[in-house]
Amino acid sequence: MAPTFSQDHKAAIALHVIDQPAFETWLDAQQGRVKTWVQANDFKAARGEVLLVPSEGGHPLMALVGYGTPDQRAKRRYHLAGAAAKLPRGVYELVSGIDSEQIETECFGWLMSSYRFARYAKQNAPDVQLIAPKGVDAAKLEIIAGAEALIRDLINTPAADMGPGDLEAAAGAIASEHGAEMTVICGDDLLSRNFPLIHAVGRAAGHVADRAPRLIDMRWGKSGPMVTLVGKGVCFDTGGLNLKPGSSMGLMKKDMGGAANVLGLAQMIMALGLPVRLRVLIPAVENAVSGNAFRPGDVLTSRKGLTIEVNNTDAEGRLVLADALALADEESPDLVISMATLTGAARVALGPDIAPFFTDDDATALTLSGAAARVQDPVWRMPFHEPYELRIEPGIADLDNAPAGGFAGAITAALFLRRFVGQSRYVHFDIYGWQQVAAPARPKGGLGQGPRTILEALPDLVNL
Ligand code: BES
Ligand code: MN
Ligand code: ZN
Repeated sequence: MAPTFSQDHKAAIALHVIDQPAFETWLDAQQGRVKTWVQANDFKAARGEVLLVPSEGGHPLMALVGYGTPDQRAKRRYHLAGAAAKLPRGVYELVSGIDSEQIETECFGWLMSSYRFARYAKQNAPDVQLIAPKGVDAAKLEIIAGAEALIRDLINTPAADMGPGDLEAAAGAIASEHGAEMTVICGDDLLSRNFPLIHAVGRAAGHVADRAPRLIDMRWGKSGPMVTLVGKGVCFDTGGLNLKPGSSMGLMKKDMGGAANVLGLAQMIMALGLPVRLRVLIPAVENAVSGNAFRPGDVLTSRKGLTIEVNNTDAEGRLVLADALALADEESPDLVISMATLTGAARVALGPDIAPFFTDDDATALTLSGAAARVQDPVWRMPFHEPYELRIEPGIADLDNAPAGGFAGAITAALFLRRFVGQSRYVHFDIYGWQQVAAPARPKGGLGQGPRTILEALPDLVNL
């Protein structure tokens, strides 16, 4: 169910979010009995502290949430969501406490605090609702939260129920909801239509019903700048013949996280009616093991004509993205953005919470960094370091999909992708798409990374 705000003002309990440095002043302004209750409960407005204050009749009169100090807040995110998880069932109305730059992100966090993945078993979630505070764009936040829930559901769904055909169906549902056009090139048609890399990676699952490789192509919007989103849709990544060990394979249902994130971002753009011409390209495959699987040492010729020596079948994401990026670039859009769970190296570099992005355009990078800070969807620029181009040039082909040594793996993967985008302005995000340990607004599982930042930046990126 899409997270929404409540409109039930009558039932609402006043929610005071109290900055710790201002706590004494706040307390002095309260009625005697409120003050007594607060002191008797030893409430000090530390970050995450929650206290319900009863009326004389014993009903909840107000709820207090400690907002702590700026230093304490800087170490965490979604303070209001943290409080929501501790509050009793009810409807709450914010009466004070959060500054205007933080309020929308805090409200987004509250909306996501009740998200659970409940497809296979009932899950307990806090039953708390928030009245949209004044000045907050409630409709926009509901759209963003709904898209985030969609991203999480897509990632959380196990590969048995989220194969290439299922991903196509999910994309189709989003397209029809927003009146977008969608076409799909599937199976051997990928060869006749010249998408050899998507076919090579996905063909080992091709004999299984609904799991053949495919390219999903969605278009929406009649005028405005052209924005093309490309998402890695590897529905399960066994590693191929370079099989992953069990410990690394366990989480690989999330290897379509890039596809999930671009679909979520597309849903935000379409639901908000942004004046762009949007295209979404998703190479959807399963990197499986079979007699007809592509092999280490194979040399493949890409859509763009570049030849690639496959030195590791587990570096499959850059292969399927290469053909999709080449197609994207053929019509020279104003902006091409790719999102992919592309490398373990990106995690080594920045950890799970920060998504590195690569672009040659300094203004684009600045805009994205500023937007990320505002909406608290952290991304960090990494370099397309030219000298490392040598590392992706193997000798018997134009490109190597898995440079030996492995150093700078996130950069060499990004450089590989850039070879397939000739003329368009390009940004590539290497995301994790997963929350490892439950935190406020983020239960363990699938996670959107980047879409809120890109949405926030988009008006500046393409002059809307
Ligand atoms: N899907 C993985 C990358 C990945 C692994 C992302 C774990 C997040 C968590 C990707 O297809 C992959 O296997 N990449 C290899 C590339 C290497 C063989 C050059 C990697 O990062 O080890
Ligand atoms: Mn892989
Ligand atoms: Zn992968």
